[in-house]
Amino acid sequence: MLRLIKTTTLLSIALLAMTFGANASAKKFEELGQTPPLGWNSWNTFACDVNEKLIREMADAMVASGMKDAGYEYINIDDCWHGERDKDGKIQVNKERFPSGMKALADYVHSKGLKIGIYSDAGNTTCAGYPGSRGHEYQDALTYAEWGIDYLKYDWCDTENINPIGAYTTMRDALHTAGRPVLFSICEWGDNKPWDWAKDVGHAWRTTGDIYPCWDCELNHGSWSSWGVLPILDKQEKLRKFAGPGHWNDMDMMEVGNGMTEAQDRSHFSLWAIMNSPLIAGNDLRNMSDTTRKILTNKNVIAINQDKLGVQAMKYIHGGDLMVFAKPLANKEWAFLFLNRGNTPLNYTHDWLHYYELKDDIFNYQIDFRNEKFNWVDLWKGNKGDTTKPLKLKIPAHDVVMLKLTPR
Ligand code: GLA
Repeated sequence: MLRLIKTTTLLSIALLAMTFGANASAKKFEELGQTPPLGWNSWNTFACDVNEKLIREMADAMVASGMKDAGYEYINIDDCWHGERDKDGKIQVNKERFPSGMKALADYVHSKGLKIGIYSDAGNTTCAGYPGSRGHEYQDALTYAEWGIDYLKYDWCDTENINPIGAYTTMRDALHTAGRPVLFSICEWGDNKPWDWAKDVGHAWRTTGDIYPCWDCELNHGSWSSWGVLPILDKQEKLRKFAGPGHWNDMDMMEVGNGMTEAQDRSHFSLWAIMNSPLIAGNDLRNMSDTTRKILTNKNVIAINQDKLGVQAMKYIHGGDLMVFAKPLANKEWAFLFLNRGNTPLNYTHDWLHYYELKDDIFNYQIDFRNEKFNWVDLWKGNKGDTTKPLKLKIPAHDVVMLKLTPR
């Protein structure tokens, strides 16, 4: 009997220890991603053509272009940096592309006051066919910590029969156990509704398939599609309630400077900003035009994205080609975005006193424009006005007007 009790007690202690032990490490780095991450990623422009020289030059350009001053922080290497695993299973870099090794590259990026990100995949292979982290999660997390990695984008190719919650939680725990703070960016394209389960797993989750630099298009690749700005925007419907500080809806890396018109780029940037998406540039920072640079470094628009309240914009009005978004900000301020989705200029007069009631039922913010008066400033043009007079807008095709409202 005594023996039985002892065995049972010991077993319970062991079980308790396992439970508490697991819980102790079972978390993400809570302090990271309190505002959406700002950075650059190699994929949209360079795909697999990555190497250490390119990454160093991009870190230099992030500083020289004023992007670092505007708040950008991460230099992220996407797919294809990988070599093979060595005899102990440790992942190696591709030695031709990264002859100095990842640690030296991370040191270089850090020496510029920036942070460095890397990419892996929950399956056996990445989307480009390089070694994934399946079965090597703890080992890879230790390797990343040893290299000085600050951000991990974790993809979802080659994952047949893998449970997504389990796979992403395993990598989260591995990163946490390795001990170096790493922002964990979940990339499973919204296939498994990460907004339902990833709040405590990652700092951001992709909500859609891959982006493509076009306004309103779908690029069909057979088994999957890439999407333009408007289709990605429309797929965010109903997701705002899931996002907040430390867990963002990721609308994918930006295509600003990658071939769309200036108006389309401005709209793309403004939308990603007001929707609290991570702002990860995807263009070649070394030779961007002044127009592109000015869009990416608009500090007033970035401030809307980085507002401490962390509340994603809501769709306020949608009629024909016009969409109006409203985002509550800290200090009782608001951001408004008027978007012309259409191919012709749009004349629109917004009478604040006609649409006097604005209610955010999810996060409980509201305005009654009859009683509350605001000054507004146009965040792209600098014009000023107030909400006592109707706002007369002429919005060019595919363009936006973005305002910040401050109580008078
Ligand atoms: C997937 C991701 C992309 C990119 C590629 C790399 O398609 O969604 O963002 O990382 O893989 O192969």
